[in-house]
Amino acid sequence: MQGTKMAKGARRRLRSPSRLALVCATTALWTGACGKKEATAPAGPSADASAAPAATPAVDRVQATAIFGLPPDRYEHPQIPTSPVKVELGRTLFFDPRLSKAGDVSCNSCHGLESYGVDREATSKGHEGQRGDRNAPTVLFAAGHVAQFWDGRAADVEEQAKAPVLNPVEMAMPDAKAVEQRLAAIPGYVSMFQAAFPEAGEAAVTFDNMAKAIGAFERTLNSRSRFDDWQDGKDEALTAEEKEGLGLFVRLACITCHNGPLLGARTFQKLGKVEPWPFAARGNDDPGRKKFTGKDEDLHHFKVPSLRNVAMTGPYFHDGKTADLGEAVQLMAKHQLGRSLDDAQVKKIVAFLGTLTSDLPPAMRAAPVRPAEPPPAPTGAGPAAPSPAADPGVGPAAAAAPIPAPNAVPAPAGAGPAASAASRVAPPPAPAGPTGAAAAAAPTTAPAAAPNTPPGAAAPVAASPAPAGR
Ligand code: HEC
Ligand code: HEC
Repeated sequence: MQGTKMAKGARRRLRSPSRLALVCATTALWTGACGKKEATAPAGPSADASAAPAATPAVDRVQATAIFGLPPDRYEHPQIPTSPVKVELGRTLFFDPRLSKAGDVSCNSCHGLESYGVDREATSKGHEGQRGDRNAPTVLFAAGHVAQFWDGRAADVEEQAKAPVLNPVEMAMPDAKAVEQRLAAIPGYVSMFQAAFPEAGEAAVTFDNMAKAIGAFERTLNSRSRFDDWQDGKDEALTAEEKEGLGLFVRLACITCHNGPLLGARTFQKLGKVEPWPFAARGNDDPGRKKFTGKDEDLHHFKVPSLRNVAMTGPYFHDGKTADLGEAVQLMAKHQLGRSLDDAQVKKIVAFLGTLTSDLPPAMRAAPVRPAEPPPAPTGAGPAAPSPAADPGVGPAAAAAPIPAPNAVPAPAGAGPAASAASRVAPPPAPAGPTGAAAAAAPTTAPAAAPNTPPGAAAPVAASPAPAGR
């Protein structure tokens, strides 16, 4: 959908491996800083930038695309092949609170796709309302990061996806086996897993495959923005102020760390590189990457976040303690570059950062229809099935709902009116029509899709019957 008309050759060129070297060279050219030298306040052009912000020279498109470039529509896993059914299974799992112990927390609770992949909280509420100590980053474009988490402790989105499910303060499932048992008890999932992992046959429902499917879905969560339209040749895509902001972003040397198509997410850097970061004053002395590597030199190093969608993903930093984007920019200039910016400069940079907000297609935000619970076993003797008392996901309405046919995997845009209403997404213009089975299947409940709903208020899956028709 995005950028289909652009020259494929140009895109390939922008993503070529030699670009990294080019970025460094370009960075040095524009800011006098690269690699080890990045801590020094850049001389030359940037001095002009702070002296006379109104006259900031524009950065031309050739330079900008060498520093940044266009992101791909999809990040492929080098070994794991993807498929539409796998992505759809991943989407369904991402939205399903039955992956949590109490049946009330889904990935989407903390990474709400209707709110740019975040929950807009400083720290997120998980199992029994517990909160962790780090801010939830967005899942949009996460698959393109050098590694996952603020400290990079997971290599890729597939590995990452296992962690929250078993994390006691997040989704709190006791172990992989319990997750597999719960999924295997839902016939709709068994057929979806078998379709997504045909090579696994009967044994398709595994914790590993759950993570692979979620990863396959996350690899599609990339959507371009106005900045990309501009990089792609559409000059009017950016206003004069936004272009000046881009000029400042480049000349002030923000690009020593925030470069590449994601404007970051390529390296780990010390927070407080030039001027110490006020860890104590902010009440969050997070060791950063040292927590994972154990190495002293990694103390207070964090993954440089991607700045895509940053205008929508506050509050900011690993501690989520800065609500205002302008303030975040000021803190960066001060602590990472040893500079202080005036209000006009901050305003322009913030305006530029706003051009990185993705155009999220409804299909990327809409909650899918979840496969229904099976009717209770007549004997009631199924040892593997979670007991109704322990699992609010098993409700009378859910039990009564028909089990979707194996081919009722919801199409991306066919999440249907119920799902659209739940996530406040305008219904797709001309629904190709969810299949009868999918339409009649258990509806997605609104609370599960709403990131800020307290878990206690979250209705169990399929607690209410599907709204009749549309
Ligand atoms: C209770 C809230 C919560 C839930 C539920 C949750 N996450 Fe997260 N997620 C977080 C937080 C907080 C972090 C950052 C933790 C850290 O870096 O140590 C994070 C990090 C991530 C990252 C890394 C992004 C980056 O920029 O490094 C990805 C990807 C992700 N989560 C995906 C998922 C998926 C998939 C699920 C469901 C299986 C999920 N999350 C469930 C809160 C949550
Ligand atoms: C030396 C590397 C470096 C430089 C230079 C740098 N940053 Fe950062 N930036 C980081 C790191 C590391 C973080 C994550 C900090 C944390 O862990 O909270 C970050 C975080 C941010 C955030 C918060 C993003 C979020 O999702 O929470 C913004 C906004 C930002 N930087 C903008 C800028 C701007 C604008 C500049 C130039 C004025 C700049 N940065 C310069 C390394 C850098």
